[in-house]
Amino acid sequence: MIYSEIIGFGHYLPKKILKNNDLTKIVDTSDEWIYSRTGIKQRHIVNKSELTSDLAIKAAEDAFTQSNTDPSEIDCIIVATTTPDNTFPSTATKVQNYFSIKNIPSFDLQAVCSGFIYSLQVADSFIKSKKSKKIIVIGAETLSKIVDWKDRRTCVLFGDGAGSVILSSTKIKTGVMSTKLYSDGSWHKSLFADGGPSLNQKVGKIRMDGQDVFKQAVNKLSEATEMALSDCGLNISDIDWLVPHQANQRIIKSTAKKLGIESDKTISTVENHANTSAASIPLALSSSLKTGKIKKNDILALCAIGGGLTWGSCILKV
Ligand code: UT7
Repeated sequence: MIYSEIIGFGHYLPKKILKNNDLTKIVDTSDEWIYSRTGIKQRHIVNKSELTSDLAIKAAEDAFTQSNTDPSEIDCIIVATTTPDNTFPSTATKVQNYFSIKNIPSFDLQAVCSGFIYSLQVADSFIKSKKSKKIIVIGAETLSKIVDWKDRRTCVLFGDGAGSVILSSTKIKTGVMSTKLYSDGSWHKSLFADGGPSLNQKVGKIRMDGQDVFKQAVNKLSEATEMALSDCGLNISDIDWLVPHQANQRIIKSTAKKLGIESDKTISTVENHANTSAASIPLALSSSLKTGKIKKNDILALCAIGGGLTWGSCILKV
């Protein structure tokens, strides 16, 4: 049996920080409203000239350095993103070109906030089917570029950033233990961008019925996590850390409670990073591994939900 071991991780956050109080100068909001409803205090924001590929490359460089991996060892690149540099070609091919890794598959995966978990399943399948031996999966977003800065219901929620992991083929039972992915397109109108190449030849801005998504989130995240655990024969008590998508502290807390996981076993970075969509889980993962909060051989339950709706979970031994 072949498994996908995590041999490297990294992340990158743009230098510029926008605090809640800075937002009160743009829209009719307050630090009190944002923090009490979401748990967010600040978000990192790119400069106009900084692209998603720039963030992805920096997160990849960090993982290569951390794991002492030469980029030439990588035989597949997957970038989970909703904010690619161009409509085409993929941001992944820009990363591939930057590192001069020739003749390997590179592609973007679009599943919005669930993109990183979808990408882990794809990477794991490539490794298990012996198509690849060493894959870098990057979640990278510049959501600030598609936020409607006049809409206080959404602009306070999002941030920019990138996180990455390197998966490597091994015969030892570790790494990706199981994944569960779901989608339900009937929720399209609850969370979408009102633009697209085919629709209106524009990029569009984020539109969300927050309460619709909120009501779905806790049940779907906890059910997906229970299904992924059951698939690999583990129980809630086996989990060292819950690493949920970082959209809202209230959703994170309720999901942990529903699963019966103590809050001190839950990773939360939403206060400092806000919602970075496909980058949120790898950012939380990498920053918690770097501080030593998450340790080697810990068993993690990752879970995410986003536009589509798409959602899913991955049980991961790091
Ligand atoms: O990453 C993809 C997944 N996305 C999510 O998981 C997001 C899920 N949804 C949420 O996190 C929450 O629904 C929000 C944080 C988006 C909103 O929180 P809420 O408690 O559901 O608030 P609400 O939408 O019910 O709005 C309550 C009030 C409204 O005023 P009225 O109609 O009661 O007078 C809003 O107009 O808060 C008002 N409001 C604001 N007030 C100050 C909405 N946004 C703001 C704001 N500042 N930024």
